[in-house]
Parts: sequence; C-alpha cells; structure tokens
Amino acid sequence: MAKLSTKYPGSALITGASAGLGEAFARRCASEGMDLVLVARRQSRLELLAERLKQDYHVNVLVVVADLSKPGAPESIKEACDAAGVTVSLLINNAGFGSHARFHETELQWQSAIVDVNVKAPTVLTGLFLPGMVERGKGGVVFLASTAAYQPAPMLAVYGASKAYNRMLGEALYSELKPCGIDVLSLSPGYTATEFHNVAQVKRLPPMEMFRKPDQVVDTCFRTLGKQPAVIDKVTPFQAFMARVHRKLSRWQAALGASMFTGLLAYAGDVFAAL
Ligand SMILES: NC(=O)c1ccc[n+]([C@@H]2O[C@H](COP(=O)([O-])OP(=O)(O)OC[C@H]3O[C@@H](n4cnc5c(N)ncnc54)[C@H](OP(=O)(O)O)[C@@H]3O)[C@@H](O)[C@H]2O)c1
Repeated sequence: MAKLSTKYPGSALITGASAGLGEAFARRCASEGMDLVLVARRQSRLELLAERLKQDYHVNVLVVVADLSKPGAPESIKEACDAAGVTVSLLINNAGFGSHARFHETELQWQSAIVDVNVKAPTVLTGLFLPGMVERGKGGVVFLASTAAYQPAPMLAVYGASKAYNRMLGEALYSELKPCGIDVLSLSPGYTATEFHNVAQVKRLPPMEMFRKPDQVVDTCFRTLGKQPAVIDKVTPFQAFMARVHRKLSRWQAALGASMFTGLLAYAGDVFAAL
C-alpha cells in the first residue's frame, strides 16, 4: 500500500483531533509522513498532540482552534490554512457528537449544534477544500458516518440522522469525484473506545471487549479509501455479508443514476445492511 504522503501530497486536515478517532487519525497520517492541520476546541490538547507528533515524526503541524457549531468556523479554518500556506490534500471530517435522550427532552440548541457540527461543518469544509484537490487531480475526503447511519436511531435521533447524511454524501461524492482523481469514503465505525459515549451520556453500553480501538478503525479507513464508497468498520460475518450486498447495490445505483428502480435498490440495500 502506497504511503499516505505519496498518495496525497500535502497536509491532512483532521477535525476533532483532540480526542478519540481524530487523535488516532492524526498519529497515523503523521507516521506516514503527512503534515497536519489539527482542528478542535480544546487548544491545550491539540498543542500537546502537535508537539508529540512533531517530535516523533518530524512533520509540520498547524493547530487551528475552532468551534464547528459556530457560524463561519469552516471558513476561518480555510483562511488559517491559506495564511499558513498549507495545501490540504486529505480532509478527515471526523469531529462529531451525539446526545442520548428523547428528542423533545433535549434542548433544541443542543440538537441544532449536532446538525452544525456533524452535518453543516463537513459539508462546508468539503466545499472549501475540494476545488483545490480537483484542480491538482489528487486528494482524499473521509466522512465519519456510523453503524447508526444504517437505520433510524431512537434516543439518538438527530445524531443517527446526521450520520445517515454523512454516509449518503460520502457515497454520492465517491462516484462524482472518482473521475477527478479524488478518493472519498464514508466510514462507519461501530462501538469504539473514545470519549464519544461519555459526551453523549449513553446510559447502557456493551462490555468493553466489544469495543474497537481507534487505531483499528483508522486501519479500516485507509485500507478502504479509494477502493469503495463506504465501509462498516468491524462487524459480524453476517453483517459483513449484508454490507457487501449493500455496497454492490449502492454502486449500481450510482452507475445507473437516480430513478424509481435505483431508489428501490438502495432501500433494499439499507434494509439488508440494517439486519
Ligand atoms: N466512538 C464511537 O463509538 C463512534 C461510533 C461511530 C461513529 N463515531 C464518530 O466518530 C467521530 C469521532 O468521534 P470519537 O468517537 O472520536 O469521539 P470523541 O472522543 O468524543 O471525539 C470527538 C471530537 O470531536 C470534537 N468536537 C466535538 N464538538 C466539536 C465542536 N463543536 N467543534 C470542534 N470540534 C468538536 C472534539 O473536540 P473538542 O471537544 O476539543 O472540540 C473531539 O476531538 C464522530 O463523528 C462520531 O460520530 C464514533
């Protein structure tokens, strides 16, 4: 497998790099020679990580502190990159959070922030960085979906819907951008050992042995990026089979274009993948 720095010459921009999967993405990209742009709200964590990665891998790291729930945050990140002369060749739309509660009992402001961080930010960031990648004929974009993206998610309703959006956006852009030399992936982790469940205040969780490690999810991502539109990280053999069926159906759908027939195919794929 070619090194990431060869495949995507330039910097990897990782949102949500202050914890969990984002931190694992940052370490992996640095270990493969990529310069980094690290984005999140917790400045001290980003700076500590940046120092470690600079020491361990001799890469350049730009820290951009941004709250993606705030209007204009993606634009300010692009401006910071331009001002520093950074060329982003790999965009990992990783920042995200959820809230485990009934919709009507959750503050509307909170639900709205989930949409801003999980939906609006990846859309706008992709829109800002993609034209440069297309111009250069090389690049990669990853959207963090989730196994929650494959069926309605009661008690995590807005979160689940936001992840379905990322899944669909990634799968559609895979087909659109393949001819331009851009790799796009919608990555769906299952339970992964990060701060996510604490932040979301999930009350009941499976045993820790069932959790994946962030590095394992990152491995799945880079094994798959550029080869297929979507991947579910680690699943039972039955789920893996169903996911393969789903991926085939998605590809046919993308190849055939939107129609009632392909809509039905996609629906069948969703039903299978959710089993
Ligand atoms: N862990 C799982 O089981 C799991 C499963 C499926 C999908 N995912 C997805 O994986 C992605 C990474 O989550 P994780 O599991 O690594 O969770 P995590 O450990 O809680 O990390 C979330 C990251 O997002 C950042 N973030 C949250 N709100 C932000 C905001 N308003 N502005 C900027 N950054 C913000 C956080 O940084 P700051 O707090 O410093 O801002 C943090 O770096 C998410 O999109 C999540 O939906 C996770």
